This record gives sequence, structure tokens and C-alpha cells, in this order.
Amino acid sequence: MNEVLVTGGAGYIGSHVVQQLVARGEHVVVIDNLSTGFRDAVRGAELVVGSVGDGELVARVLDEHHVDAVLHFAAHTVVPESVRDPLKYYGNNTCNTENLLACCAGAGVDKFIFSSTAAVYGMTDSGIADEDTPTKPINPYGTSKLMSETMLRDICATGAMRHVILRYFNVAGCDPQGRIGHSTPQATLLIKVACEHAVGKRASLSIFGTDYDTPDGTGIRDYIHVEDLAAAHLRALDHLRDGGESLTLNCGYGHGYSVREVIDAVQRAGGRPLTVIELPRRAGDTPMLIACSDRLKQRLDWQPQYDDLDFIVRTALLWEQQLARKSVPLTSVA
Ligand code: UD1
Repeated sequence: MNEVLVTGGAGYIGSHVVQQLVARGEHVVVIDNLSTGFRDAVRGAELVVGSVGDGELVARVLDEHHVDAVLHFAAHTVVPESVRDPLKYYGNNTCNTENLLACCAGAGVDKFIFSSTAAVYGMTDSGIADEDTPTKPINPYGTSKLMSETMLRDICATGAMRHVILRYFNVAGCDPQGRIGHSTPQATLLIKVACEHAVGKRASLSIFGTDYDTPDGTGIRDYIHVEDLAAAHLRALDHLRDGGESLTLNCGYGHGYSVREVIDAVQRAGGRPLTVIELPRRAGDTPMLIACSDRLKQRLDWQPQYDDLDFIVRTALLWEQQLARKSVPLTSVA
């Protein structure tokens, strides 16, 4: 019986993908070092605690579990931290990916799905990126992911494997049934931060920049619900299993919301006004970044189910309320 290896399957996005894979009857093994992931988030799959940089461990897991496909999420993802500590990002995101790819090639794993990011585009001229938009990352996080993309394409060009690279735009929301969610401490992402404020974990919420050349002056992003994003991974796996060619695909809805629109949605969901502080622009932020996601829809026959900001925010808030009730988040074993 073949199994799917999910690295980083105890993290925010990986755990939602594991849950969907298990729900459709896949056999899944997770490797996660629990540095930012949570043991309790791995539902219905075996968890091997360790690093994808540990070649011996990865080779053993690939062999013992008869792995035929790898979905690689394990990574550091905090942009400002990547600027302060770039080698941490190149070490974990790039070097450990090289190790994982070498292990996969050695074990004959020929299907690889990679979590990439819209950060590979950097500042675009139009604010809309398709997959052919030049990649010019402006921080080590984006560069570390782009370097991994390059390695993956090059190893696939040898005929060793086929890949799907998924470039995520702004992932948000949580499992609508509230079983798993986004538990990362010290989050900086807008919807998570706004929901933390809505449940009283933060005293206020800051808007970084109100003087952008956008209709209400605040930044616009393409927020995609994590369940729709997870579904794209399952489609990608089916595509590769059906013998499909290697692909690079943007993951977003193709339209965006401003910071003020997000805040309004959180106020509607929580039924209370938020305390909002207007601050200058945050370094490195672009006015607008929206995905052209036509290729994802065409090539994987993917259709979003949750393209609704109010729904996204309600699921994020539901999870935040659960975390607040528990007062401590899920058990971190880091
Ligand atoms: C972040 C990453 C990006 C990654 C993406 C998806 C940074 C700088 N960028 O994108 O590389 O691809 O997540 O994981 O970390 N905002 C506020 N107040 C806040 C937080 C955010 O006004 O407290 C604004 C930002 O200025 C921006 C928008 O909200 O206009 C979204 O920001 P955020 O959620 O941090 O995501 P990005 O920076 O777009």
C-alpha cells in the first residue's frame, strides 16, 4: 500500500491538507520537527518527529512507508525574521529541501508537490501576478523558496520525478468544523492578528499604511481559504498520479480585499468594533498583490468552495475563540 509523505504536516496549512487526505482514504505519514507545528494537529496520520534535513530519517520513512508522493510544507515562513536571520531560512527552506529531494530521488519517489509562495514575485508593476510574471523576491524568505523551486525543476528535468509547485497568496481561515486551525504563536498575518484582537488577546490592531494608491488607501491582498488551498494539493496529487506534466500554479481567488475591508469583516463576525491604530507603511509591503489563478482552475479543474471573506473570517474567529477558551494553545512539544 503506497503512502503519501507530508513534511510539515503538523503546521497550519500542512495539517489541513493531511486532514483532507485522510478523509478521502489516503494513507499518510508526516515528518515534522514540531518547531512551529503541533502534535494534536496531525489527525489520522502517523507523525514522525524529526527534520527533513536528517537524511537517514527521511530515507527510512520513505522506505518503510512505501511513499510514492511527497507534499513538502516544512519551512520557516516569517518574512521579517528571514531578513534578520537569512541563513536560518536558507538552511531550513533551501538546504533541507535539497536533502529531501536527494532522498526522494534515491528512493525512486517520482511525484513531488511543493509549497511555494507569492513572495517569489516581490513587487509587481500591476499588482496582479500570473505564473509568467518575473520572479524577483525582495526578502530571504521568498528567495529561499525560489531556490527550492529551481532545484525541483532541475531535478525533474533529469526525468527523476514530476512536480507541482503551488505559489500561495494570502492563506487564511481554518477548518470550518473547528477541529484544527492556525495556532502559530506571534503571528503577523492580518486576519489572524485581527481575530486575536477580536477575542481580547491583543489590545488593538494596527493598519500599516493608509496612503497607498488603492480605493481606501490600504493594502489589497488575495485571501484564499486554507480548505480551498488544501483541496488544490489533492488535485495536484491526482494530476501527478494520472501521469500529468510538471506545473507551477498560483493559488488565490483572483481578486482582493483591502485591510479596511478585512477589518470590517472581523467586526461583523465578532459583533463588536475593533480598536484600530493607523501606522505608517510597513517596510517591504506592496500596495496590491492579486493572483491570476486561471491556470490552477484550468489545469487542475479546481473550483473554490469558500471564496467569501465573511466565511473566511468567521472560520478564523471560531478557531481563535477556541484557543482563547483553552487559554493555552494546543500542546507544543517543541
Ligand atoms: C505575508 C508575507 C508573504 C507571504 C504571505 C502569505 C510578509 C511581509 N509577507 O504576506 O511573503 O507570501 O504572507 O503567507 O510577512 N497588515 C496590517 N496590519 C497587520 C498585519 C498586516 O495592516 O497587523 C496589512 C499589511 O500591510 C498588508 C496586509 O495587511 O497590506 C496583509 O499583510 P499580511 O497578512 O502580513 O500578509 P502579507 O504581508 O501580504
